[in-house]
Amino acid sequence: MCGIFGYTGPRDASSILLDGLTRLSYRGYDSAGLAVVDDFRHLSVRRAAGKLDNLRRLVENEPVTGRQGIGHTRWATHGPASNVNAHPHTDGTGEVVVVHNGIVENYALLKARLTANGHQFFSQTDTEIIPHTIEELLAEGLPFEEAVRVAAGRLRGAHAIACMHTRTPEMLVVARIGNAGGIAVGTGEGEMLIASDLPALTPYTSTAIFLEPGESAVVRPEGFELRTLDGRPSTRALRPVGVSGGAAAKGGYKHFTLKEIHEQPESAMSALHGRIAFSQGKAQLDEMLLPLTDSEVAALTRVVFLGMGTSVHAGLVGARYVETLARVPASAENAAEFLHRDPVLDRHTLVVGVTQSGETADTLQALHEARIRGARTAVITNVPESEATRAVEYPLLMHAGHEVGVASTKTMVNSMVVMYLAACALGLQRDVLSTESATRCVEEITRLPALIGATIETTERDAEEIARRYMNARRFLFLGRGLMEPVAREGAYKMKETSYIHAEGMSAAEIKHGPIALIDHETPVVAVAPRNALYEKMLISMSEVRARDGKVIAVATAGSAEVAAYADDALWIPECPPLLQPMVAVVPLQLFAYRTADLLGNDVDQPRNLAKSVTVE
Ligand code: F6R
Repeated sequence: MCGIFGYTGPRDASSILLDGLTRLSYRGYDSAGLAVVDDFRHLSVRRAAGKLDNLRRLVENEPVTGRQGIGHTRWATHGPASNVNAHPHTDGTGEVVVVHNGIVENYALLKARLTANGHQFFSQTDTEIIPHTIEELLAEGLPFEEAVRVAAGRLRGAHAIACMHTRTPEMLVVARIGNAGGIAVGTGEGEMLIASDLPALTPYTSTAIFLEPGESAVVRPEGFELRTLDGRPSTRALRPVGVSGGAAAKGGYKHFTLKEIHEQPESAMSALHGRIAFSQGKAQLDEMLLPLTDSEVAALTRVVFLGMGTSVHAGLVGARYVETLARVPASAENAAEFLHRDPVLDRHTLVVGVTQSGETADTLQALHEARIRGARTAVITNVPESEATRAVEYPLLMHAGHEVGVASTKTMVNSMVVMYLAACALGLQRDVLSTESATRCVEEITRLPALIGATIETTERDAEEIARRYMNARRFLFLGRGLMEPVAREGAYKMKETSYIHAEGMSAAEIKHGPIALIDHETPVVAVAPRNALYEKMLISMSEVRARDGKVIAVATAGSAEVAAYADDALWIPECPPLLQPMVAVVPLQLFAYRTADLLGNDVDQPRNLAKSVTVE
């Protein structure tokens, strides 16, 4: 949610800033801007509403020069995505310039005070009060870096800022306030960079540090200095930056999202790799064991998965895996709602965050709260260095590889793979899953990559044809039962976020209690009905829809003869064990949503109004 990138060194800053912002644009892409200070201490600011290309074109037409700069890619919180609301923002003197990620919770109060002191504001953003606050502190005689620290200390909320002053060329000052809003400093050869996330730094630096909450850094080409916001020096070792974050390529696919859907057999394999072993014909899952003793595991009374959006859908499946395989009561919840309802927790509850980005503010805060209340904590994430990995006792990596498409696809499947393995390991440790059953479960999941591959092959063309038939629908309903209910929810999510067609996902058992009123010949219903214990119940729901003129698109097991009588169209998946069905059945729904969105001409990789990392509450 908003990307910050900065450079100070011997090279021309603007092209490096544009490159860094390109790598961060998954964090927000409704507008972007950059500011550069030249050798004569002249500040140039360029800002453009819309995608980053608009800024790139603006900088081509109105070039800026300078060897020090900060840039920003925005996801609007205060004020629409316009040129004037795009960052960077300046103070009244035009000498201080700031970019910001997060929300200043007390900005109205600060703005009122500044306005009373004669400051004028031009944007509707909360951010603009930051340079003006720094300006006041400079007028009181504080040096720039101290003014930034004191100003940061006055901001409530969770965020990161990067600031420059024309009078201190070569120096960037960054600060981190609160838990969300990560910001890293990376060291290069005679140059230094700052970025919201490590993948943006990898082309330039081999080592970096993330600022801790309540910390600031003064960054110059030759090095950087860390201090707490109240001015005490702090030190920490630099960490190597992985090389995996380089520019991703579409590899011949029209969109990253399509490429990532196709990568799922391989990414699922990565999640399994090194975690399962067979010795004497029995599965070994030592890699997946929680850092809990046998007696702590035996005393577990509850497992709660927390996440947002697609990650909650994965969590709903994970909860079913835990109940089925480890026989512990389990549930999944929206992390934001959990956080604010004073939950009952104790050390016999295991709270598992699910967050592919490892940065989602709601999930991080809920994990933090769970830890304070004494629960045991784990997280399933795709980003090894992320904040989430540091917030819990036990981070579990999903190993999906970099996901560029804003709509999660392969990370959802990999979350479920990790949950399945962890539930098997927990079941074994609790002695409720026999070694034979665990071995069978593990053998079954080794077939997952092939099952997903076969599903893509069979449903790819059908998904496009069906999408062509229904792309003008005003709304969709997605129905499922049991493990397919979260899959139906996810199908609806993918459809609405990429195609902008209203879609709802729910239990098929629910419709006759209300939503059936929506059914008419213009409301296609996607019924996720692979062969399992609830298959026949799904057939009944499908016939109820058809009896009301609704069109049914089934996701069903190949060879299910009954489906032809109950559905107008079908996406066929291979026969697979019931516990694997969510990881397989979600794939045709991803393809269906993708094709619908693409046929409608939408930007599938960066759907409107969204961002890949939601670092604000
Ligand atoms: C939907 C999607 C979002 C995320 C949600 C949580 O396709 O990607 O709903 O699932 O914002 O994100 P993470 O998993 O990064 O916490």
